Amino acid sequence: MVEDKKKGLFDQKLSRRDFLKKSGMAGAGAIIGASALGSFLLPKTQEKTKEADGDESISFYGKHQAGIMTPMQKNVYFVVLDLEEVSREEVKQLFKDWTAYAAKLVEGDRVDTESSNTYLPPKDTGETVGLNPYRLTLTFGISRSFLKKCGLTQKEMAIFKDFPPFPKEQLEDKYTGGDIAIQACADDEQVAFHAVRNLIRKGRGKVTLKWSQSGFAAIGDRKSTPRNLFGFKDGTVNPTTANDFDKVVWYDGNDWLKNGSFMAVRKIRMHLETWDRTNLAEQENTFGRYRDSGAPFGKTDEFSDFSWDDKDKDGNYLMPVDSHVSLANKAGKKLLRRSYSYADGINEKTGQFESGLLFIAFEKDPQQFVDVQTSLGATDRLNEYITHIGSGLFACFGGVEKGGYLGQDLFE
Ligand code: HEM
Repeated sequence: MVEDKKKGLFDQKLSRRDFLKKSGMAGAGAIIGASALGSFLLPKTQEKTKEADGDESISFYGKHQAGIMTPMQKNVYFVVLDLEEVSREEVKQLFKDWTAYAAKLVEGDRVDTESSNTYLPPKDTGETVGLNPYRLTLTFGISRSFLKKCGLTQKEMAIFKDFPPFPKEQLEDKYTGGDIAIQACADDEQVAFHAVRNLIRKGRGKVTLKWSQSGFAAIGDRKSTPRNLFGFKDGTVNPTTANDFDKVVWYDGNDWLKNGSFMAVRKIRMHLETWDRTNLAEQENTFGRYRDSGAPFGKTDEFSDFSWDDKDKDGNYLMPVDSHVSLANKAGKKLLRRSYSYADGINEKTGQFESGLLFIAFEKDPQQFVDVQTSLGATDRLNEYITHIGSGLFACFGGVEKGGYLGQDLFE
């Protein structure tokens, strides 16, 4: 009786996706809009809540890992883990378990079938029961220290080198290095967190948390470039076509990283108070772009072609030579930037906002990042307003085909 009552309550709270699944229409949600299904398929309560936003799911399987080419979601929960003293076989098993979990999580399903024994902790932590998948993607990467701990240094390729020291950075050990990175992106914060929480729960005893960062991006209607916490459009110059991705992002080699990519991560504190006291002309000179339109100096459209050395009719550079965009462009190397802002309360030492950018860039060769960061170097005008405090470089495997598992080509 009690069971039935519980079941009744749960049924009332079914998400629209669960409802479609139950009626054998899973997958149709992405094709048939909520309004089309509207009144005749959805129970009365669902009509009002119209929970159609999050019903798009992105398969975990494919040639490349999702979360790289995927258009940015609203939220990230990013985590770096350290590997405990475990055997390579145990790590391999963990990656197999994570594959099975990830494939379910991105569909909005529970990580495993629940047992009927109520004296056991539930398999899934439960905070997303009834929620849609919200375009959840899970992207896994490993570092050089991972290869070392697993006794796989012979698999290290020459381009997989640690970053050199960069001018002005003030890296803190607690945000630097680590063995495994998981980037969970979703259009819902709780969905992203739940995914990471359950993956780590499965890895208990094998991995420990080193650092984590949640972040957000104002992607709005997904048509315009999100603005960072300095108010500027961030992500304008980025690869978009499959051809761009082949040139810039996907690893060229034919080894265990085939179809994968390198992920450069920097935790960058942004000094909002200093920025907010800076006049608009100086803010725009810092980037070499106009704030409202996002256009490069001398142009009116955000996406106008430009080069750092464009000049006006008097022979003066259009962009300040020490502006962020001029120096980044001058490096002549491209990256896929997929960064998220963060706001973590108040810095106890300064009494100011603890906020910034979780900079995430994908590239086929880490040298692309090194060249851009070296060009920004000590001269970037933006340096006055930011401090790099964390860093990591991770090799993100190629995608997983059904029946395979994450990192299979590395372990076998
Ligand atoms: C808090 C730190 C940062 C902020 C606020 C920031 C902001 C921006 C903005 C507003 C733009 C212009 C619009 C666009 O194309 O996206 C831009 C461009 C760019 N940034 Fe950053 N950025 C930061 C850090 C970095 C870092 C660490 C790198 C790499 C080392 C980087 C690489 C680039 C590149 C490659 C471009 C495009 C350059 C081009 O137009 O050719 N940025 N950034």
